[in-house]
Amino acid sequence: PFEVTAEQSGVTITVEPGQSILHALDEAGVMVFSSCEEGICGTCETRVIAGTPDHRDSVLTERDRESGDVMMICCSRARSESLVLDI
Ligand code: FES
Repeated sequence: PFEVTAEQSGVTITVEPGQSILHALDEAGVMVFSSCEEGICGTCETRVIAGTPDHRDSVLTERDRESGDVMMICCSRARSESLVLDI
């Protein structure tokens, strides 16, 4: 499990294995637009304020991945113990 803080919403949640960040946030009442939920459309792209994403999408370029500034929260996870997202 890892922690995700939705900075603008003022909500911090724990994301369990097998659960997506998107769904965990949704359960906590934080709405994020999504479509494919498979990491291919880019709809759920979210800005990362702190923490290291574990990218599992097929949208971002290698450079985007290395910068760690954005992530697809429908499928990507965290490499660090927590993430702070700009939502
Ligand atoms: Fe399509 Fe996340 S909803 S990439």
